Amino acid sequence: MMLNRSEYVTIGKYILCNLLVLILPGSIGHKVGVDNPGHMLPLGSHRPPESPGVDILPSAPHPQQFYQNYVRGSRPFLIKGHAKDMPAFKLWNDNYLKSKYGHLSVDVEQGKKENRSKSLWTMPLKEFLNQYNDSDIYMVNSLPKEMMGDVWIIKSLLCGGFLDNLMDAVSWFSSGGTKSVFHFDALDNINCLIDGTKQLFLVPKSYAEDLEFNIAGSFSNVDVDHVDMVKFPQFADLPWYSVSMVAGDCLYIPYRWAHQVRSAGRNLAINIWFAHQHTFDDEDCERKGELPEFAPLSDFEVTEAYDAQMRGELLHFVDMRGGVLKESDIPVGVDFFGAGEEELKAVFNFMDIDRDGMVTKEEIQDIDREAFKEILEALEDADATEWQGEEEGGGGGGGGGK
Ligand SMILES: *[C@@H]1O[C@H](CO)[C@@H](O)[C@H](O)[C@H]1NC(C)=O
Ligand SMILES: *[C@@H]1O[C@H](CO)[C@@H](O)[C@H](O)[C@H]1NC(C)=O
Repeated sequence: MMLNRSEYVTIGKYILCNLLVLILPGSIGHKVGVDNPGHMLPLGSHRPPESPGVDILPSAPHPQQFYQNYVRGSRPFLIKGHAKDMPAFKLWNDNYLKSKYGHLSVDVEQGKKENRSKSLWTMPLKEFLNQYNDSDIYMVNSLPKEMMGDVWIIKSLLCGGFLDNLMDAVSWFSSGGTKSVFHFDALDNINCLIDGTKQLFLVPKSYAEDLEFNIAGSFSNVDVDHVDMVKFPQFADLPWYSVSMVAGDCLYIPYRWAHQVRSAGRNLAINIWFAHQHTFDDEDCERKGELPEFAPLSDFEVTEAYDAQMRGELLHFVDMRGGVLKESDIPVGVDFFGAGEEELKAVFNFMDIDRDGMVTKEEIQDIDREAFKEILEALEDADATEWQGEEEGGGGGGGGGK
């Protein structure tokens, strides 16, 4: 068979391209597949953690510094041994918990490897304490008011507005060996470990934004023990931070940093979630002056400040759209605080104060808290009729979760 010159050239190019794909796989898109480091291994096996790791601080930063460097800067930090002064750290052995709080009812999950399609149930705390060492139950419970006096809020939250935005304080209690799903929270988070150790796989917000999450629950379906690089190629070169916590340590996990948590030993942690702030109230700090290192959680309202969370999420959307939100940007089919498309349009029109078909950050900042509360109530009413019994734990928009 005779080939003409142009056919030779075509075949030559074809061979060259294939050679390049074989020789330089990394240079053409993601190098992914069964040969990829970390394929079918636990999360974090694909490459070493970032170095240097997260900031390790000797004490809690002042709220101003916390807001500027860590909340705005989107940086986690670890304070070693900081929770050791808290009453919960000194007091919360099983006998104390049983005698003082045993009658309180708590939420419990079955299974140490988290699976969000399973449901929670409740039992008295004393019942949990009788069972937890010999079973795989995991207490994941919003702290009852009665227990809040034993838990302290660190200095970093004591002025600037954070205290008005506390969303939830949750205790996490098991005999160890738990593994969370890989997920992010649309909230800022301070987690203090009272007993045991925890190992975290943390991914910066900027990278987490490119990952595919189950949008409604903001978690990934990746199997954290066997990462399938073919199904989840984005994990192939994902940078990550490793954080090891021992009893007494407190960790700040910034808003929208994705994470996976493994725990070992009798394991008891308390985390405080607060809505992500886009502003800081300097006057509040001036008024308060010198701050104590801690204050008891029982001194404050843990208000489930969904209005603040909603403002934060809207500002996030606007940021992602380059500073303005147009009506056509309204996400369809996304669980945004339980709102359907019609309700989202109504919210949009409400926010578009100057009626120019665009919503800016300034417009969102100008809406007062009461108005947001009204919006949420309206959504809840719509929600109750349309989605009866759909959502477990409420909140939507990634409010709950771990
Ligand atoms: C989670 O639980 C559901 C229902 O029990 C099950 O179908 C599913 O396979 C589980 N998922 C994982 C990742 O184990
Ligand atoms: C459960 O085990 C831990 C040690 O891991 C122990 O401190 C605790 O007292 C045990 N609790 C009960 C109720 O047996």
